[in-house]
Amino acid sequence: MDKYVIEGGEKLYGCVALQSAKNTVLPLLAAAVLTDEQVKIRGIPTIVDVENMIHILGEVGCKIKRQKECAAIDSSNAVSHEIPARLTKELRSSVFMLGSVLTRFHRAKISYPGGCDIGLRPIDLHLSGLKRLGVQIIEKDGYIDCVADKLVGAEILLDFPSVGATENIILAAVKAEGITVIRNAAKEPEIVDLQRFLNAMGAKVRGAGGGTVVIEGVKRLHGVEYTPIGDRIEAGTYLIAAATCGGEIEMSGVPAENIAALLHKLRENGCKIYTKNDKILLTSNGRMKSVDIVETMPFPGFPTDMQAQYAALCTTASGSTLVVENLFETRYRYAAELKRMGADITVRGRAALIRGVEKLHGASVTASDLRGGAALVIAALKAEGQSNVIDLSHIDRGYADFEGKLKKLGAKIKRVKI
Ligand code: UD1
Repeated sequence: MDKYVIEGGEKLYGCVALQSAKNTVLPLLAAAVLTDEQVKIRGIPTIVDVENMIHILGEVGCKIKRQKECAAIDSSNAVSHEIPARLTKELRSSVFMLGSVLTRFHRAKISYPGGCDIGLRPIDLHLSGLKRLGVQIIEKDGYIDCVADKLVGAEILLDFPSVGATENIILAAVKAEGITVIRNAAKEPEIVDLQRFLNAMGAKVRGAGGGTVVIEGVKRLHGVEYTPIGDRIEAGTYLIAAATCGGEIEMSGVPAENIAALLHKLRENGCKIYTKNDKILLTSNGRMKSVDIVETMPFPGFPTDMQAQYAALCTTASGSTLVVENLFETRYRYAAELKRMGADITVRGRAALIRGVEKLHGASVTASDLRGGAALVIAALKAEGQSNVIDLSHIDRGYADFEGKLKKLGAKIKRVKI
């Protein structure tokens, strides 16, 4: 197991080179089995979730050639419709394989997916959407077995704009007979990117980003070379880190509208932010004013994936912040760890009241999920003295070279084996 040893108190200065969006790359990799021609994805981030997804593709029979940050996937010899349980347990996004494998083989068998332990994370919306397309589903012994003689377009209204369900249904509908309409679809930028990618393969998908996605089934899809969008959650994490610690950082690759909700809060906190096209420049004096309330919502609301990092900022802001987590049930596991560093947080169900303290002090803390882990690192960068952030396995799932990028900004952070 690894840990970070962090000496807090440094301001952060410089440019951050952002990775491609984890949450785009994962469904794009799944989508590679939709065609038997070569799919080339550039800018693949070196993170464990992506490696796991690539293993899954290997298990269904795809050949994958890696060259630096480019992956070429050839699924012409893909044979298996079954995703092995040991890999799906590691990665929630393995569930996207349902839609694409169904399209390819008209059959897909997968065990219930894993991922961060942040709440119930059911997949009922995925399954009811697939049923509407004509898929028969048998759930037994922890497995979901899906069979469809043929996939047929349908009208689907999602009870909640689930990102994964929207993507899965799109993947199952691209080659279905007729037209599929998904209403109350998720509007996240990653869905727009998936649409762009699929259309570049010859699909006919429109409306992504607007709440209603229309998919006109096509007979065949062809190969593609594609560069996914930048990772807005990674961008937000570094922006929050610099806002909290003070300094000036710059990045490009994520248009401001993709993280508008966060930028709005950071401005209220007292940061100066300049944006132009896909460039963002943030300046902070490291003394944040608290905002009254921040509530997570589906896009374009404040992202649940930035809730923990933002809470780390609130711990030393001048005043109190009420954080409300509306998407996942248990996304405050990091709070007990922040308290070890001197944070004043009361959690009740989906709400956390954070009363800003003068300063945090170094402590040994354990990362128990991806974004919660990033929050602990931000708090440790701000804290007086030395901190240990233990168990980097979750952070490694989503941040490529986290310590390297922070070090470049001037942070005192070391990765150590324990
Ligand atoms: C995706 C992101 C994740 C992010 C989340 C919300 C990927 C790989 N992951 O996850 O980082 O935190 O969006 O922005 O893109 N729900 C149901 N039934 C379902 C599906 C979802 O009730 O069938 C509920 C969930 O429990 C949750 C809410 O809908 O309360 C949002 O989940 P969803 O948008 O599906 O998140 P994911 O796709 O899992």
